[in-house]
Amino acid sequence: MATAIEKQTVKWLAEFIGVSPTYGGILVSGGNMANLTGFLAARTAKAPKSMKEDGLANAAGEMVFYCSKATHTWIEKAAVLFGHGSKAIRWIPTNTDNKMNTTVLLQTINEDLNNGKNPFLVIGNAGDVSTGVVDNLSEIAIICKAHNLWFHIDGAYGIPAAVIPQYKNLFDGIKEADSIALDPHKWLYAPLEAGCILVKNPQHLVDTYSAHPVYYNFDNGTDEPTLNYYEYGFQNSRGFRALKVWMALQQVGKNGYIKMINEDIELSQLLFDEAQKHEELEAVTQNLSITTLRYVPYNYAQDERMNETYLNTLNEKLLNELQRGGEVFLSNAVVAEKYCLRACIVNFRTSKKDIQEVVEIIVREGRKTYEKLEIK
Ligand SMILES: Cc1ncc(COP(=O)(O)O)c(C=O)c1O
Repeated sequence: MATAIEKQTVKWLAEFIGVSPTYGGILVSGGNMANLTGFLAARTAKAPKSMKEDGLANAAGEMVFYCSKATHTWIEKAAVLFGHGSKAIRWIPTNTDNKMNTTVLLQTINEDLNNGKNPFLVIGNAGDVSTGVVDNLSEIAIICKAHNLWFHIDGAYGIPAAVIPQYKNLFDGIKEADSIALDPHKWLYAPLEAGCILVKNPQHLVDTYSAHPVYYNFDNGTDEPTLNYYEYGFQNSRGFRALKVWMALQQVGKNGYIKMINEDIELSQLLFDEAQKHEELEAVTQNLSITTLRYVPYNYAQDERMNETYLNTLNEKLLNELQRGGEVFLSNAVVAEKYCLRACIVNFRTSKKDIQEVVEIIVREGRKTYEKLEIK
């Protein structure tokens, strides 16, 4: 029963974000695990067949992979865990809009090929962890196709927004992805832990994770193939994570999610607008439901002792004060070398009143922190 429910949940998640329901996949603990599960499937699919026996040493050329510099730290874990080393990561710069620079991506792939490297994977972000930017996924898909590279999307945070008609275009190209990581425990409001990896051809998961030791017997007494989730990922014994997601999808329904996700985006836009209006705040970025902003003392322009370094220190201290104060929890993001406060709204209970209060609290605490912080 648990397997049948998980299978249906995975299918519904695929349909929900707008890719073919024939994608297969598995529920995992969260975004790190979803991305790691996809990464290894990519490597199995693109590495020589002998990889499982010989390991990396005999791969034809060093296996390298590409992601924007805004990519979440799971990629570093993957590089270390799976034996590539962090030097195999090609950190592609972003444009001023924080999207991966696909011209540099293409150049870097070509340079690697000329230097005898073995590129196998490109990761696109569908809502990067710091600012919520969605890379140009269709351009990345074209590059992957031309070079026979696996196209993985990290949509852990942002991909549920693809369900909203007016944001659908932003996610053009997702249907081309070989694998997609998403996190029901982020923007589908599921309780921790619930992540999911979707794979266009789920046989790649089986090729990567299946094992048939003598002590396993899964004869189902029929000629029908059995879906055994131990063949789709790292875990053998597993909890029934799918149940809460399956129930939520039915209880909330697509329209319910469209409404709640849209409201989160609107609240994030409201926060950005309020920050823009306030003379002691600088609104820095707004994408999906993430707003970044910083506190700037009102006499900033007149006092030449205040510079970017000072503002960064001030905002870092302010963030710590806010977190310790317990009235509001903001995280941080570094955007174009600016240390920013980051508000990521993924709660259907957040209201306009909360946003007004966040602004008031930031300004009040910002002034206090400024008074305490000497200008050197
Ligand atoms: C884009 C992105 N990828 C991956 C992760 C990691 O997810 P988790 O904490 O569920 O492992 C996050 C978490 O914030 C994220 O924003």
